[in-house]
Amino acid sequence: MTQITLVKGDITKMHPDAIVNAANSSLLGGGGVDGAIHGAAGTELVHECRLLAGCKTGEAKITKGYNLPAKHIIHTVGPVWNGGSKKEEHLLYSCYYKSLELCAQHKLTTIAFPNISTGIYHFPKQLAAATAIKAVTDFCESEPEAFTEITFVCFDDENYTIYQSLLAATHITNYE
Ligand code: APR
Repeated sequence: MTQITLVKGDITKMHPDAIVNAANSSLLGGGGVDGAIHGAAGTELVHECRLLAGCKTGEAKITKGYNLPAKHIIHTVGPVWNGGSKKEEHLLYSCYYKSLELCAQHKLTTIAFPNISTGIYHFPKQLAAATAIKAVTDFCESEPEAFTEITFVCFDDENYTIYQSLLAATHITNYE
């Protein structure tokens, strides 16, 4: 049984096997959570990222965590919100699902996600949260033994409140 957890805080301080980065297609760092993760991981991270030759929207790639408490970072590129007619929901779902698949391939059993695309990429928070939860619950239904804990990390109150009510509605109640 996978524990699905909700916390409010800074993902760079967390200790799962992997934290997920809301990156851009270059994978060479940026602002927001990308900037925080690169800042906390240290300069070795960007050297490894350079070898990955970028990442397509909706795809995911893995690196070491370097100075982070998390052993690995899953870099995924969320969609920029363009009004909803450019497959944004499908691409965001894919970010979560492919990050879980990549983690499972590496036999990692705990993972923490930020609220991908809801900052600089302006994806509506309510739809993003519903999409994230659907991708995670779909994955857990198909691979119930793959993860011991999947954590949603909210950095702001608005996201936290949205996740709290959506998770309660899905009867997933193990959240802090
Ligand atoms: N821990 C957890 N969540 C964080 C942190 C942090 N330290 N810092 C920011 N966040 C949250 C934001 O509040 C937002 O809810 O991460 C979510 C995603 O926001 P962004 O980081 O802006 O990411 P995104 O909207 O996916 O845009 C990606 O921004 O930083 C650049 O290089 C990145 O071009 C890419 C774009």
